[in-house]
Amino acid sequence: MDKSTYVRSMFDGIAHRYDLMNTLMTLGQHQAVRRAAARLAQPPRDGLALDLATGTGDFAAALHEIEPTCRVVGVDFALEMMRLGQTKYRGDVSFAAGDMLRLPLPNDQFDRIVNGFVLRNVSDVRVAFAEMFRVLKPGGRAVSLEITEPRTPVWRDVFALYFDHAMPRIGGWLSGRPDAYRYLPQSVHDFLAPEAVADLMREIGFREVSFHREMLGTMAVYVGAK
Ligand SMILES: C[S@@+](CC[C@H](N)C(=O)[O-])C[C@H]1O[C@@H](n2cnc3c(N)ncnc32)[C@H](O)[C@@H]1O
Repeated sequence: MDKSTYVRSMFDGIAHRYDLMNTLMTLGQHQAVRRAAARLAQPPRDGLALDLATGTGDFAAALHEIEPTCRVVGVDFALEMMRLGQTKYRGDVSFAAGDMLRLPLPNDQFDRIVNGFVLRNVSDVRVAFAEMFRVLKPGGRAVSLEITEPRTPVWRDVFALYFDHAMPRIGGWLSGRPDAYRYLPQSVHDFLAPEAVADLMREIGFREVSFHREMLGTMAVYVGAK
């Protein structure tokens, strides 16, 4: 099975427990970090924003909350995730099915593009950034949020005990998909360091690229402009 097929079926399989697991895993902080990332996106008045891999729509809704006049479209290929998102955010977010590596969208369309917790899940992160760059308007801004390994000694080891050992057991038990919560820490270990993500964004053509560590260094928010 290729990575996209696995990832799509995994998220459809855990959709009913996805929000609960996020709350448990982050001790209730997952919405705060999306709000912080959404603030960095600075959604403009009457603008158009795209939330790639929107899942159950929380990042899209955070953008809408900051700037209710900005129209937000969420795209994902896991329909079950978006079905739950529609029940939460009907009216605030428009949902559309699509693969973020092959967006069925014209160039230079969106004022803002955001995505949360997906970069390590795609089969080709370079293509993901190239697609974001393509559909972003000149002058637009892209913001990506992703889990990263903390660097601080001792805290790094404490976090690893939780993230690599305790969390997969709890997540597997609650979701009925133990593979999904073994995959999660593995995908973080296998992913690029924040500096390499920022370099990749610059190679694609993004300007003013920066990244910010959040939540005690366990998350990174990447910002770039076109
Ligand atoms: C960890 S969830 C994140 C959901 C949401 N962004 C959030 O903040 O909670 C990852 C999401 O990425 C989606 N995804 C992964 N690869 C994708 C792709 N190539 N195209 C569209 N969606 C994708 C999955 O279906 C899943 O809903």
